Amino acid sequence: MSKLEQELQQEVEKRRTFAIISHPDAGKTTLTEKLLLFGGAIRLAGSVKARKASKHATSDWMEIEKQRGISVTSSVMQFDYKGHRINILDTPGHQDFSEDTYRTLTAADSAVMLIDVAKGVEAQTIKLFQVCAKRGIPIFTFINKLDREGRSPFDLMEELEQVLGIRSVPMNWPIGSGRELCGIYDRMNNQVELFQGDDEDEIEVKKVEGYTDPLIREMAGEYLHDQLCQDLELLDVAGDPFDLEKVKNGQLTPVFFGSAVNNFGVQTFLENFLKLAPKPEPRHSTDGAIAPTNEKFSGYVFKIQANMNPAHRDRIAFLRIVSGKFERGMSVKQMRTGKDIKLAQPQQFLAQDRDIVSVAYPGDIIGLFDPGIFRIGDSLSQGGNVTFDELPTFSPEIFAKVTVKNALKHKQYQKGIDQLTEEGTIQVFTTVGFEDTLLGVVGQLQFEVFEYRMKFEYGVDVQLQRMPYQFARWIVGDNIDPSKFRINSTLVKDKKDNYVVLFENEYAMRTAMDKNPDAKFLETAP
Ligand code: G4P
Repeated sequence: MSKLEQELQQEVEKRRTFAIISHPDAGKTTLTEKLLLFGGAIRLAGSVKARKASKHATSDWMEIEKQRGISVTSSVMQFDYKGHRINILDTPGHQDFSEDTYRTLTAADSAVMLIDVAKGVEAQTIKLFQVCAKRGIPIFTFINKLDREGRSPFDLMEELEQVLGIRSVPMNWPIGSGRELCGIYDRMNNQVELFQGDDEDEIEVKKVEGYTDPLIREMAGEYLHDQLCQDLELLDVAGDPFDLEKVKNGQLTPVFFGSAVNNFGVQTFLENFLKLAPKPEPRHSTDGAIAPTNEKFSGYVFKIQANMNPAHRDRIAFLRIVSGKFERGMSVKQMRTGKDIKLAQPQQFLAQDRDIVSVAYPGDIIGLFDPGIFRIGDSLSQGGNVTFDELPTFSPEIFAKVTVKNALKHKQYQKGIDQLTEEGTIQVFTTVGFEDTLLGVVGQLQFEVFEYRMKFEYGVDVQLQRMPYQFARWIVGDNIDPSKFRINSTLVKDKKDNYVVLFENEYAMRTAMDKNPDAKFLETAP
C-alpha cells in the first residue's frame, strides 16, 4: 500500500458525514449546538444559536435570510471529537425547504432523524426520511424533549413503523418522563444516565447489573423501576434485536432518547453514533464503484449557492469529496465539459465563517469559488474519466405563472431564469399552445427568493401568480394529445422540451392515467 493510500485510509476511517433531518421546532438547532460544543467548537455553537435568535444575525449570507431569521440555504459544519472528524450537513429547518435540502442529503453517508417526543413523526420528517430511505443510508433516531410530557416510547416506535415503514431498536430507554424523568437506561452498556435537569457539562452515569438492578430502584423509586422492568422485558421478548447489517442498509433504526436543551443523552448518543455510523464509502460511477482510498481525487457538486458574501456577486459550488486527497491549487477535469479547472480558492464552511482549506479528504465538503462554470451534479476528477451517478431531481409541488413588469428587461429576465434554473432553485415550464412561463418549486420560500434575486441581482421586477396545480408528471409516450390534458390539468414542456402535465389534484391525475394507459407518468424528468 502506498503512503498516500495509507494516509487516505486513516483519514477516511476517522470521518463521519451526516445530516440531521427533522420537522421545524423539534430541536435541530439545539442538538447541533450541543454536538458542536462537545467538539470544543464553542464559537461556532454560539453562532448557530445567534443565527436563529436574532433576525439580524451578523453575517447571514442572503438578505432574505436576515429578514426572515432563517437559514435559506444549507451549510456544513465540521468538528473533531475523540479522534473523529465530523461533518454535519445542515438542512434548512424552516418549513419552506427546497430541492437543495433534498440534494444535500445525497452528500450525507447517514442521517440523524430528530423527533419531538410529544409530536412524533411530522410532515417534513416524512419527506426527508423518504429521500434518505431511497438511498438506503443508515438512519439514526433521536427522540428529543424527554423532559416534557410526551407519547409513550412504544407508541412512537409503532409510528416509525406505520408511517415510515422502518423497524426500530431502542438503544436506551427512558426511566420516567416529563416532570418525573429520572434518567435513561443504556441497554447496550448496562448503565443509567441520570437526568440532572440543567445543562450540565458533566454527565452522571451509574454502572448497573442489568435493568433489574436494585440500584435503579433506589434511584428511581419502585413505581418507575417496575415500569422500566416491564417495558424492557417486553422489548427483550418482542422487540427487534440489534443488527448492524440491517442498520447499515437502512432497514432498522437505532433509537436514542434524550433532551437536547438539557444536554441529556446527547453525548452518549454521539459516541454510539460514531461507533455505528458508516465512514465514507465507495460511490457509484460510470467507471464502477470509486473507493474513497482511490489515490485519484474525485468528487461531485451537489449544490450551488449564490451570494454567500453580499460584497461579491460570486457563487459557491459545494463539492462532496469521494476519493483521493484534495490539495489547494490542484487541477481537476470537469467531466461535462472536458475542461481542466484549477481549484485555487476552496473554502470550508464553518457556519458563517469561511476558512480557506488547503487539504481535505473523502467525506469532506468543500466550497469552490464559482464564476458560473459549475452545474449541479458536475463530476470533477483528477486524470481519470469518472462520472458519478446523476443527482436525483424532485417533483415540484407549487407552481406560479411568471411575468415581467417591464418588457424592456426581457434579456436580463431570461438570464436570471437561466442561471437560477442552473442552480437548481426553480424549475421552468412553458405551457403548450400559450407559451406562458410557469415556475415550479418544492417550497413556497423559493418563490420569494426568486422574486428577490431577480430584483436585486438582475434588476427585474417580476410578478408571480400562483397556479392551482399540485403535481407534475413527465409523460413519455407516442402521440401525446394536448386536448386530453385540459380538465384540472395543463400540458407544459420543461427546458429540455419534455412533456409534463401539471395536475390540480390527485383525482385529475388518476383520471388522466386511466385515460392514457399507454403513456408513462414519471415523477421526475426522464
Ligand atoms: P429547530 O432548529 O428544530 O427548529 O428547533 P430549535 O433547536 O430551535 O428548538 C425549538 C424549541 O425547542 C426551542 O425553544 C428549544 O429551546 C426547545 N428545545 C430543544 N430541545 C429541547 C428539549 O430537550 N426539551 C425542551 N423542553 N425544549 C427543547 P424556543 O422556546 O422556541 O426557543 P428558545 O427561546 O429556547 O431559543
